[in-house]
Amino acid sequence: MTELRRNLSLFDATALAIGAIVGAGIFVISGVAAGLAGPAVILSIIIAGIVSSFTAYSFVRLSSKIVEEGGPYVYAKIVISPFTGFITGWLWLFANIVAGATVSLGLASYVSSLLPVIPIVPIAISSILILVILNIVGIKQSSIFNAVLVILKLSALALFIVIGFSHLNFSLYEPFSPNGIKGVLSSAALIFFAYTGFGRPDTAEEEIKDPKHTVPRSIVLALVLSSIVYILVGIVSTGLIPYQKVANSGSPITDAIEYGIKIYWLKIFVSFAAIVATVSVLLTTIIGVSRVSFAMARDNLLPKIFSKMHKKFSTPYLAILITGIVMAILPLFGNLKQTANVTNFGSLLVYAIVNTTAMIMITTAPQ
Ligand code: ALA
Repeated sequence: MTELRRNLSLFDATALAIGAIVGAGIFVISGVAAGLAGPAVILSIIIAGIVSSFTAYSFVRLSSKIVEEGGPYVYAKIVISPFTGFITGWLWLFANIVAGATVSLGLASYVSSLLPVIPIVPIAISSILILVILNIVGIKQSSIFNAVLVILKLSALALFIVIGFSHLNFSLYEPFSPNGIKGVLSSAALIFFAYTGFGRPDTAEEEIKDPKHTVPRSIVLALVLSSIVYILVGIVSTGLIPYQKVANSGSPITDAIEYGIKIYWLKIFVSFAAIVATVSVLLTTIIGVSRVSFAMARDNLLPKIFSKMHKKFSTPYLAILITGIVMAILPLFGNLKQTANVTNFGSLLVYAIVNTTAMIMITTAPQ
């Protein structure tokens, strides 16, 4: 039988995690979050980062011991029971297939804001199908493409931070927390979405070199780097534009550039980076969904065709194709806000199971 190949280095695995993390959350949802907390959205970003780091720690502990393909599904199956694994796997697939649809809608709304003649739903569907084809061709090709996207989106955010710092209007930081602790916490719950995805390397453990060391390191590196970028983006954007102006915006960072920096090429570059960012989140989501369904099929919890490997490309091509088609159907039935809420609900349930799994593993492992 054709096997998965260990192709991915620490750089690739870290790029996979950053690819999955930095996307619609910071480029779209941060505006709504700022509307809830005011400039104190900076505190919300820090709080959400700290909360995410607890779950990331559970992923780190589990991935340093268990190196099977399949992420949370495999952890719950091995540490708790096959039945818990079965429930976790289905929950994970559900949350992430809907997440893929959410991100495709975010991507489509950016594309259609640049090219308004093209309607959103066909862009969302075709973006999923194009990335499905890339995924079938190979994880190395997908990961090279993903690394380029990650470098592009981080460069655009770095440029925004550096140029933005010299245009800050300090009077915009007053009042700092107009809606008090309630505003800060509800904003933190929302911006939590921006951190999800840090566990993505776990889903492809059998394709990563020296996974016991590489996967935990890649998760820590990706989360630390993303948190620093998010905090700096929060400080800069709230010092460029009044928070009320981005509360209902679909493009808060480019609005901040237009209002507070007024450099046209930077605005276009950051809009392009927002599209790039959502493409990389979508790409890594398709990788994750296909690998978890592959792992479940290998254990007879999904039809065997999901574990069938492509002879030439060494990828689970039917798992990629079938889960990709299901993902591509969803934009026909829901809008971005509905799908984002469903995603958050499913992700939180999966994280609760992952944390329980890690606690059980740590407390019952021989010392
Ligand atoms: N964290 C990912 C994003 O912000 C899901 O798009």
